[in-house]
This record gives sequence, C-alpha cells and structure tokens, in this order.
Amino acid sequence: MATLPTIFVLNGPNLNLLGTREPEIYGADTLDDIAGALEDRARALGVRIDMRQSNHEGHLIDWLHEANATGAKAVILNAGAFTHTSIALHDALKSIRVPVVEVHLSNPHAREAFRHRSFVAPVARGTIAGFGAMGYELALDAAARL
Ligand code: DQA
Repeated sequence: MATLPTIFVLNGPNLNLLGTREPEIYGADTLDDIAGALEDRARALGVRIDMRQSNHEGHLIDWLHEANATGAKAVILNAGAFTHTSIALHDALKSIRVPVVEVHLSNPHAREAFRHRSFVAPVARGTIAGFGAMGYELALDAAARL
C-alpha cells in the first residue's frame, strides 16, 4: 500500500497544559483528546498525522524544516504565544514550500491587543481561530484538501 500523505500538527508553548490551562478560554479538551479526534478524522480523510508539541521555539523551527524536507502535504500550526512574537518562526515559514494552516483555539482578535498581531498569518495559507478544539479538525479538513 502506498504511504499516506503526512500532515504535521505542531503545537507551541503551554499547549501541553490544555485541559487545565484557563479552561474558560481554551476548553476542557487535552492535547491528547485533540490528537485522538484528529487520528479518527485523518483515517476518514486518508491522511496520516504527525502531532507534536514543544515549549521551545527552536524545536518548532526544526520541525517546520523537517516537514518541508520530508515532503509533508501540509502543516497545521498552533504556535501559541510565539505567534505574536517570533520573527524566527515567520522566517522559517517563509523559507519552506509546504502549506501551513494557522490554528488557534481562542479568537486572538477578541482578546488583548498584544494578541492581535500574528507573525504566522502573513505566511500561512489561512487561519482558523475561535472554534476551540474543533478548529483542529476544521484545519485538518482544509489541509487534506489543499
Ligand atoms: C493560542 C492563542 C495565543 O494567543 C496564546 O498565547 C496561546 C494559545 C490559542 O490557541 O488560542 O498560547 O494560540
């Protein structure tokens, strides 16, 4: 059987704490819950997901390079607070050819002003924000159809 197209799902800082971290903003689902739902959806869509989380900016950058080098079909990226700060992430995204879907559980535009700027958005194919854990599934649907 031919290998299924791979979609990287990369998660940035503090997202390992989902479920207990400000649940009124980010919801009750853990990252493992989200991974489980994505695995089911991926099977239905005929793709494979490679889901990772790191609190370290450099890991996310290395993984973006890896997604590109290994010919991943797409990347779903929730860069957490690095979204609003990281020019290094912006440059990495500009350097790769694999399409990126930016995801946020919350709607950063409905929150503090410092969350209104995204260094990811200008170099992403599109953004899904404000739909909680469901946003990851919407992003996977989009990524699988690119
Ligand atoms: C977030 C939004 C960011 O502003 C925040 O720093 C996060 C999570 C989200 O998924 O809603 O860590 O990316």
